[in-house]
Amino acid sequence: MDDLRLIERAVDMNETKISANGVQVYYGDNHAIKDVNVEIADKTVTAFIGPSGCGKSTFLRCLNRMNDTISVARVEGDIRIDGEDIYDKRVDPVQLRAKVGMVFQKPNPFPKSIYDNVAYGPKIHGLARNKAELDEIVERALRRAALWNEAKDRLQEPGTGLSGGQQQRLCIARAVATEPEVLLMDEPCSALDPIATAQVEELIDELRQSYSVVIVTHSMQQAARVSQMTAFFHLGNLVEYDETGTIFTNPSDPRTESYISGRIG
Ligand SMILES: Nc1ncnc2c1ncn2[C@@H]1O[C@H](COP(=O)(O)OP(=O)(O)OP(=O)(O)O)[C@@H](O)[C@H]1O
Ligand SMILES: [Mg+2]
Repeated sequence: MDDLRLIERAVDMNETKISANGVQVYYGDNHAIKDVNVEIADKTVTAFIGPSGCGKSTFLRCLNRMNDTISVARVEGDIRIDGEDIYDKRVDPVQLRAKVGMVFQKPNPFPKSIYDNVAYGPKIHGLARNKAELDEIVERALRRAALWNEAKDRLQEPGTGLSGGQQQRLCIARAVATEPEVLLMDEPCSALDPIATAQVEELIDELRQSYSVVIVTHSMQQAARVSQMTAFFHLGNLVEYDETGTIFTNPSDPRTESYISGRIG
């Protein structure tokens, strides 16, 4: 793959938000991410696709240092956001994760009320001056996550009492409530029905106006619908990274071709 040409193309479209160089991830002896280089553009949706176990979640977690929380994980290489090394000793991972929000593969609401799940981040980061402002932030986030109508009459009930799909939308509301600059979404729609999926896809498109969004998905249709750039991972390698249209209609690597036509994975 001609790295430089692809980098230039991404930069042409929009400014680079995240740049990763020579990234390796090991879980003990398992070399899960192998020398990945990628430039992720601002104001763009980037999709990560590839067969189960190829390292999509692992690489996504590198981008906000969530792998720090996995004791056997070791990350090497250079990852910069707005030119700043996010693995620098001076970077506070908690601050970093407010700027680089994440929605996980499995919904993980806090053991708190629906309201407090969403209000927690804005509260600790001082985004609201009073209760009325906080109420507004919570409502806006729940609306954006397409959960408001179902949640508005039970805001004080526990988040864990929601259905799986509702919990996932609650986690999306929690992630957008702090207005992150980058939003990492790991299969955010896998527990959602088609209506909620369409609403979340609409939200992703809206977020792209202001943020950089990276989404892991097993659905080719979803990748094609929501993303402008697509990265195909296979066995820990970033095999191909290009404009989404090119990946799906004219991929240059036979492994990408096999995957998108359903022959591997
Ligand atoms: N917490 C962990 N501890 C040890 N090994 C892990 C851990 N998470 C992932 N791995 C290993 O790293 C490799 C990549 O896994 P990863 O979860 O990143 O794949 P993925 O592409 O997200 O797959 P899926 O599509 O099934 O979610 C696999 O071999 C997996 O077993
Ligand atoms: Mg995964």
